[in-house]
Amino acid sequence: MASKPQPWSGRFRAPVAERVKRFTASVDFDRRLAQHDIVGSLAHARMLAAARIISKADLRAIERGLARIRREIQSGRFAWSLDAEDVHLNIERRLTVLVGEAGKRLHTARSRNDQVATDLRLWLRDEIDAIDERLVALLRALITQAERHAALVMPGFTHLQVAQPVTFGHHLLAYVAMLERDRARLAECRLRVNQLPLGAAALAGTSFPIDRMRVARELGFQGIAENSLDAVSDRDFAIEFCACAALAMVHLSRLSEELVLWSNPRFGFVRLPENYCTGSSIMPQKKNPDVPELVRGKSGRVIGSLVALLTLMKAQPLAYNKDNQEDKEPLFDAVDTLRDSLAVFAGLVAGLAPVPRAMRAALNEGHATATDLADYLVRKGVPFRDAHEIVARAVREAEERGSDLARLPLATLKRFSPHIGADVRRVLSPEGSVASRRHAGGTAPGEVRKAAARARKRLAA
Ligand code: ARG
Repeated sequence: MASKPQPWSGRFRAPVAERVKRFTASVDFDRRLAQHDIVGSLAHARMLAAARIISKADLRAIERGLARIRREIQSGRFAWSLDAEDVHLNIERRLTVLVGEAGKRLHTARSRNDQVATDLRLWLRDEIDAIDERLVALLRALITQAERHAALVMPGFTHLQVAQPVTFGHHLLAYVAMLERDRARLAECRLRVNQLPLGAAALAGTSFPIDRMRVARELGFQGIAENSLDAVSDRDFAIEFCACAALAMVHLSRLSEELVLWSNPRFGFVRLPENYCTGSSIMPQKKNPDVPELVRGKSGRVIGSLVALLTLMKAQPLAYNKDNQEDKEPLFDAVDTLRDSLAVFAGLVAGLAPVPRAMRAALNEGHATATDLADYLVRKGVPFRDAHEIVARAVREAEERGSDLARLPLATLKRFSPHIGADVRRVLSPEGSVASRRHAGGTAPGEVRKAAARARKRLAA
């Protein structure tokens, strides 16, 4: 079948080479923007009619045609064609088939340069909202678990060595803090996504009396991307989004790493929900933490998208260059990866079952309350440096006996300092340790419950 000429083919004597056509076409991936392309075209057409640049009859024809195209695309009946290069020209061509001349008038005072930038921003705005919903769902799951386990003591780590007792709830709230920052960052990014490029046309604006504010209002944009050169060439919003997404993925990746470690029997701190694990086709005993491993791995893709977009932009002269067509796949992939990772994580976190016994066993081996003993001596008047030294020696003694500081007999402990009395038992217990940290942001169960309640309230706001 002979292919139709491109809308720009009049300038050329020879048709574009088949290989070049395939190489330059983007419809295979940018058709994802179709619904937003239609929404943008409708707003543009309404403005054109209001400004008497096209007739009311033309507008009605365009609205009718676009409504039909929207249905065709939704139902999968739309015949996408590589000949028509990209999503914009596919839709415009179909519109012209459906409504004739009016379809050819739609592109008045517009270019694909401002059109694609508009589509991308409209699309990304919706995706940010969808991602925020999933962030909220994951936050709820984390907060619920934190409330449930506000008093469950486990070892806290530095250098991946047992450091001090913390509560499981407190540990989970650290991720709540990270994801709350991710939400705030995305909300801030959304403000800059939410600016209308349409009206910049190819790069220099248009000679028609357009009303950009009207289009912005109709599309729910907060304002216009003012400078026409910047409006068509700016992809900061996509880069910013990828930066937010990469950081969010890094947070998920850190939690993933912990879940992989903790679900290993050597730690045994948590059991992952069975329906979120997979088996091995050869080793019958295996229960593999595939979900956190994959999320940890996928964080690399999103970081990759950020680097790809930064590199894409770094040497582009103003204004639009075809390079920009390469912005879509990394952005789409970052959106999909983050959205899906958040969704699967909400279920994973909701199904996490901590194993108090294993946490306790680890606590009993790490002299986790050594700092508490030092603080105890300080409260009895011993200078902190001396207290530190006293406890270090007691720890060495415990090590030599193959025991734990907390299990040394009182008489033994007294040998290191006469200030040590019977009241040291509570101080050396993990429960006593966490209970004593009852300031804002501390790990005392009461504080963890308060912090969880505050986080829940922020979610509702
Ligand atoms: N498919 C193009 C893109 O994704 C649309 C803009 C094309 N503009 C142009 N002047 N060729 O960027």
